[in-house]
Amino acid sequence: MAQDNSFEKIVNLAKQRGFIYPSSEIYGGLSAAYDYGPLGVELKNNIKQAWWKMFVTSRADMVGLDSAIIMNPKIWEASGHVENFSDPLVDCKSCHKRFREDHLLEDNSLQPEYDKTKPRNRKGLKCPDCGGELTSARQFNLMLKTFLGPLEDSASTAYLRPETAGGIFVNFKNVLETMRLKLPFGIAQIGKSFRNEITTENFIFRTREFEQLEIEYFINPKSWEQHFAEWQKVMKDWCLSLGLSSDDLVEHEISGKDRAFYSKRTIDFEYKFPFGQKELYGLAYRTDYDLTQHQKFSGQDLSYTDPITKEKFMPHVIEPSLGADRTVLACLCAAYTEVKGGRSTTTESNKESEVVLKLPYNLAPIKIAVLPLSKKENLAELSRNILMDLKKNWVCMYDETASIGKRYRRQDEIGTPYCVTIDFESLEDKKVTVRDRDTMQQDRIAIAELASYFNEKFNN
Ligand code: GAP
Repeated sequence: MAQDNSFEKIVNLAKQRGFIYPSSEIYGGLSAAYDYGPLGVELKNNIKQAWWKMFVTSRADMVGLDSAIIMNPKIWEASGHVENFSDPLVDCKSCHKRFREDHLLEDNSLQPEYDKTKPRNRKGLKCPDCGGELTSARQFNLMLKTFLGPLEDSASTAYLRPETAGGIFVNFKNVLETMRLKLPFGIAQIGKSFRNEITTENFIFRTREFEQLEIEYFINPKSWEQHFAEWQKVMKDWCLSLGLSSDDLVEHEISGKDRAFYSKRTIDFEYKFPFGQKELYGLAYRTDYDLTQHQKFSGQDLSYTDPITKEKFMPHVIEPSLGADRTVLACLCAAYTEVKGGRSTTTESNKESEVVLKLPYNLAPIKIAVLPLSKKENLAELSRNILMDLKKNWVCMYDETASIGKRYRRQDEIGTPYCVTIDFESLEDKKVTVRDRDTMQQDRIAIAELASYFNEKFNN
């Protein structure tokens, strides 16, 4: 995990090095909206690709989907989101700031309860900003509304999806029939979701537009406990594959009164972020709640008949639900390593401290940096040829400015696993120096063998 007080440095590094920018910055920004820069988009894409491979294409029981963001609004009536997808909102009577009551209770070590029918015991809770008196809580629906077509009336109201899951449930029958599937099987989807969060916090941790990686895994209810345990293990393995330490991961069983309205069992995967232990992912047993509701509201039969036993039933669902942006944040926090006093002894670069972003190789935005020792034409030409050759297989960066020590530091800060340095000897011996990010060991490798050298490094 990242050291104390490192969060601000991680946020700064993300901006300075082209991972994540505040959105709409030239217009003064927009609260809690962020844009992924050239390195951020590579990192997020690598995360999504690794997830898709591990959770979808490498398994025999999974298929993918990409459904619309704006769907028939009846979907959200059926799913219960129109009625129940809300958070408790309180206003400060003095400064008029708005807060989530459950978060204020949590921050004051009071037990937040999600039972919306009962008033909470607030034990004199005051506004955290000005100490003013707070109103009693009212339920605030988190769905973002829009209007389809030229009229802005209730008949044209639609919602930006609050979770990608809805698109999966309403396509259950389509996928089952067109792909000729048998239970148990899952449908996976990656895509944007939108929530009108009352408060946003901690950089990209809680935003109003975010990306989810979700699976609805359809099962016979007789075996829900076994499937739940299996997915719990897969999710833990995934977290470890991201480079998160198991010491920083907590599997938190959510009690009945705190679970989402559709869930019979939920385990939150929490991560010890520098700003506190917070939910990273959720694993929920959604029972047959969604399919039953969609059957009722659509009038379509969504049941399943077992081809062998002929048993007819409504499939139940286990849902591993992940956030892409929280994954990016957790990976940055886990990888951020500050070495006081510096690592190298041979360069003139700043010795006070050095930063190495120890991302797993498959997630690193840039895999190889190509660094000619001089800008002289004959060296530049050879270096460009090497770059274009390596680019056929890996995302590479070319850097010919500043001293070689500074260029190594820059690559360490963005997590590049290997640097290839081309020097004047390379013109004679047709070899280059390859430096390893973590060990700083340097190997002299024949240019003709670079591709097979890196193939071995990245595939092991
Ligand atoms: N379909 C179930 C579902 O959406 P959730 O716990 O509300 O469950 C799942 O969301 C995951 O989506 C969270 O664990 C988190 O990673 C991510 N997520 C939810 N709200 C978010 C927000 N406002 N900003 C960023 N990520 C969010």
